[in-house]
Amino acid sequence: MVDTPAENVKLIVDGKTFELPVITGTEKEKAIDISNLRKDTGYITLDNGYANTGSCKSAITFLDGEVGILRYRGIPIEQIAENSTFLETSYLLIYGDLPTKTQLTNFSKSFTKHAAIHKDMEKFFEGYPATGHPMGILSAMVVSLGAYYPELIKPEPSKEEIDLIAVELLAKVRTICAHSYKKSIGKPLVGPRDDLQYIPNFLHMMFSTKTKDYKIVPEMVDALQTVLILHADHEQNCSTSTVRMVGSSWANLFASVSAGICALWGPLHGGANQEVIEMLEVIQKDGGNIQKYINKAKDSNDNYRLMGFGHRVYKNYDPRAKIIKKRAHDLLKKLGIKDPLLDLAVTLEDAVLKDDYFQQRKLYPNVDFYSGIIYRAIGIPTKMFPAMFAIGRMPGWIANWKEMKESSETRIGRPRQIYTGRLTRDYVPMNNR
Ligand code: ACO
Repeated sequence: MVDTPAENVKLIVDGKTFELPVITGTEKEKAIDISNLRKDTGYITLDNGYANTGSCKSAITFLDGEVGILRYRGIPIEQIAENSTFLETSYLLIYGDLPTKTQLTNFSKSFTKHAAIHKDMEKFFEGYPATGHPMGILSAMVVSLGAYYPELIKPEPSKEEIDLIAVELLAKVRTICAHSYKKSIGKPLVGPRDDLQYIPNFLHMMFSTKTKDYKIVPEMVDALQTVLILHADHEQNCSTSTVRMVGSSWANLFASVSAGICALWGPLHGGANQEVIEMLEVIQKDGGNIQKYINKAKDSNDNYRLMGFGHRVYKNYDPRAKIIKKRAHDLLKKLGIKDPLLDLAVTLEDAVLKDDYFQQRKLYPNVDFYSGIIYRAIGIPTKMFPAMFAIGRMPGWIANWKEMKESSETRIGRPRQIYTGRLTRDYVPMNNR
């Protein structure tokens, strides 16, 4: 619940005073409501990268980047990551509360029912080159899913219809990812099994062959569970804002989420997990010369960045990175794996945290810094890391789209601009018509 405006701020424009209401969130965050600013004053605001702009009110996720707090529906991420499952977390995010046993069982059963993709869709994979990036394939496949549900592609789906699309997306995203992996290694697709739960089923589709079932390793399932939970939502980030923006035009959920996948793909967002491992490999091949790459990242004449460091809202250690780092160490220890990239990552982090440049800018490891170490230990190829992020973020996108749809305050997303181009001038004809 959001408090009713209790106070106003005064804005003086061209000598005239305007009162703007202050909105206070449940965690006492304050916002100046400028909804009528242009109408009343003729001015707009300019906010590069929307760093100071609240685009909506939301009751899904709370985060305080100054202290490193993250909560889903009020529950601290540390408690969820320790005790919950990805399915239960998805339910919590989408429906607002933890499910009862019966609700969770029914939710889980619906995934079994919707796990396989249509036989015709399997043929799509034949059209992609083996070198195709999984995120491009995933985005195209997700928007194509809508073609199989024409009755659901409408501006105002019912509650039951939204529930159905949500399950479709959550269940099928992992099937599509696993199939795109099989395609990339030139092996036949392996379909889902009815007897397996969400994550084991994914690992089965990834690593079983037509003749041999993959042996599920519980430690891997457990680690993946944590990683997916930690990725499940993160309020109004680039991809989630994209999902809301696209959905605000009354575009359907398949289309909105497909756009979110494209936004997530960027190296500054969810694509960073792939970039981190590739960066560590480059540093390793270069003899482990960490300082050289730190200096490069600090050089204002060089666009190079240390991937996996920095965050728009965290000006403290990302709580997700803390949990993932521990998970990565635990998993490797349990599996008896020695990954030199983990040692390199830890050394790089230590050096970065001691460096003035990173300290002054409050740049800490983010969620993408250690997740790749876990994926590698499971055998997931580097190119698939952003797609793993997409599987994890799916419930957050759905929850935000649903919330946007259900809110009476939603309007089509349509920012303004400050025009900096040429003033009016005449067209000069070339007589080429
Ligand atoms: N390495 C080196 N310098 C950095 C880094 C980095 N990773 N991140 C930020 N900086 C510097 C910038 O150069 C800038 O320096 P300046 O003040 O001297 O100009 C300052 O820190 C502030 O950076 P901005 O780019 O203004 O911060 P912004 O909030 O716009 O960007 C972002 C956040 C995109 C995450 C940025 O920190 C970054 O590029 N990190 C690397 C990519 C990455 O890991 N992305 C994943 C983020 S988590 C997620 O999306 C799931």
